[in-house]
Amino acid sequence: MLPVDAAAWNARYAGADLVWSAGPNALVEQLTGGLPPGRAIDLAAGEGRNAIWLAEHGWRVTAADFSDVALARADRIARERLGADADRLTTVVADLTRWEPAEAAYDLVLLVFLQLGGEAMRPVHRAAAASVAPGGTLLVLAHDRSNVEHGHGGPQDPSVLPTPEQVAHDLTGTGLVLDRAEVVERQVEGAPRPARDCLVLAHRPG
Ligand SMILES: C[S@@+](CC[C@H](N)C(=O)[O-])C[C@H]1O[C@@H](n2cnc3c(N)ncnc32)[C@H](O)[C@@H]1O
Repeated sequence: MLPVDAAAWNARYAGADLVWSAGPNALVEQLTGGLPPGRAIDLAAGEGRNAIWLAEHGWRVTAADFSDVALARADRIARERLGADADRLTTVVADLTRWEPAEAAYDLVLLVFLQLGGEAMRPVHRAAAASVAPGGTLLVLAHDRSNVEHGHGGPQDPSVLPTPEQVAHDLTGTGLVLDRAEVVERQVEGAPRPARDCLVLAHRPG
């Protein structure tokens, strides 16, 4: 079952040393690795696997999530891995359905595997888009709706799963230009078939 609130997510994080991988998501690495480091925000950052990797590559990163347990872990891992550069990571405990990042403030905005469902995600997508600075990039990655029938793992309730078309529609009128909006396959070790992720990549013209 997908945890639904901060208390449930906190309980999930408290029950394991590390819920997600230590390293970044492969697509995040592939799609952001060539960007010049600047200011980034990772929305629903969890334990900070992507945020910390970005900070290791010179970015100043804000990691926002409503789980203080996950963000405390992100802070600790950042201190271990970044040493004197640990201040490149800032954590913000925030519920993304009530809090919005600063407008036009970030060169890179990540929204990775936040699965709230269409109606709840729309304002989050739009706030994420609004926070992209001129010349900046938005990367949205989520379990795709087709993953339930044709993929592997992830939430099994289709109502919390987006499609690329739906995310692209949410971004209409935000001033962002779509670069990619598609379903991508992700190999999962030991799984009978790949997982299917919804990928939307967009930028704000400089
Ligand atoms: C599947 S995890 C993904 C974590 C991270 N993005 C990653 O890929 O490792 C989903 C995260 O969303 C956070 N989350 C869920 N609903 C949220 C909300 N309304 N506001 C802020 N964070 C939320 C959870 O605490 C959890 O850390």
